[in-house]
Amino acid sequence: MRKKITVIGAGHVGEVTAFKIAEKELGDVILLDIIEDMPIGKGLDMLEGGPVGKYDTSIRGTNSYADTANSDIVVITAGIPRKPGMSRDELVGTNFGIVKSVTENVIEYSPNAILLVVSNPLDAMVYTAFKVSGFPKNKVFGMAGILDTTRFRAFISMELNVSVENIQAMVLGGHGDTMVPIARYTTVAGIPLTHFLPQERIDAIIDRTRKGGGEIVKYLKTGSAYYAPSLAVTEMVESVVKDKKKILPCAAYLEGEYGINDLYFGVPIKLGINGVEEIIKLDLTDEEKEAIKNSEAAVRNVIDLLKF
Ligand code: APR
Repeated sequence: MRKKITVIGAGHVGEVTAFKIAEKELGDVILLDIIEDMPIGKGLDMLEGGPVGKYDTSIRGTNSYADTANSDIVVITAGIPRKPGMSRDELVGTNFGIVKSVTENVIEYSPNAILLVVSNPLDAMVYTAFKVSGFPKNKVFGMAGILDTTRFRAFISMELNVSVENIQAMVLGGHGDTMVPIARYTTVAGIPLTHFLPQERIDAIIDRTRKGGGEIVKYLKTGSAYYAPSLAVTEMVESVVKDKKKILPCAAYLEGEYGINDLYFGVPIKLGINGVEEIIKLDLTDEEKEAIKNSEAAVRNVIDLLKF
């Protein structure tokens, strides 16, 4: 049986995500937005591309949650993106209300779905979906770490002039400027990054990675990144629907892991048909532990603003 995958929010991230999922034939796609008719037009446009794009996926846009009924996975991208000079955390006032109401509507029609949250501020928004849905923790998680690592990997590839496919990286922590790229767990064809680059170049790349989202916002001026984020979501959806059990950095609910309790936070997880199947615990240096604490505090500051 084909999976049913709903994408909520047919803006930049939602539309590219829906298109990539359809192109890869990961399941049938429903694309929902509150703007009247717009998702219907985008869905039809993608559907009409099937013969030449060589995908048999059914794609349909809608304004009605009834069409999302019995989804296997719901990707939540609804919400406003940031503008130049804004931090992701400044979106919390608006996006909390949006993610809360979206979650309430989604669970009414799809009580057994997996919820994959993309809206920012990410860690707080996935926490919102978790609390509002009451779903088990393995079925609610967020996309951030893959985006942060793909940026880190792209910058390393540019610096070394090697294939992006050779680079494996790990970024932990909240999805913001306090994120913690771990150079020790970053390799080029299995060889530690430190073999290729002096510490000051690694530090410069880490700094650019931390500010990678802001760099794009500065150029776009009216919104935030969406190609790399959508590809990151697609990798997660693929790992779930194909039960690939990939180990990927994602925002997962922690209950004591990494010394953190009752918080969504970026950690390596094993992602399969049941959602979060395992949280991988890494040994960290004192310096890395300190950076994690700093990032945890930043995420908690935003969560404290939420009024359920
Ligand atoms: N229900 C459904 N859709 C909604 C709702 C809602 N309650 N509120 C807003 N939307 C829709 C908007 O109509 C818009 O089409 O969400 C879409 C958001 O699209 P964009 O403005 O293009 O934003 P995008 O770049 O896709 O980012 C969406 O993902 O990466 C994060 O920070 C980013 O929070 C932002 C989210």
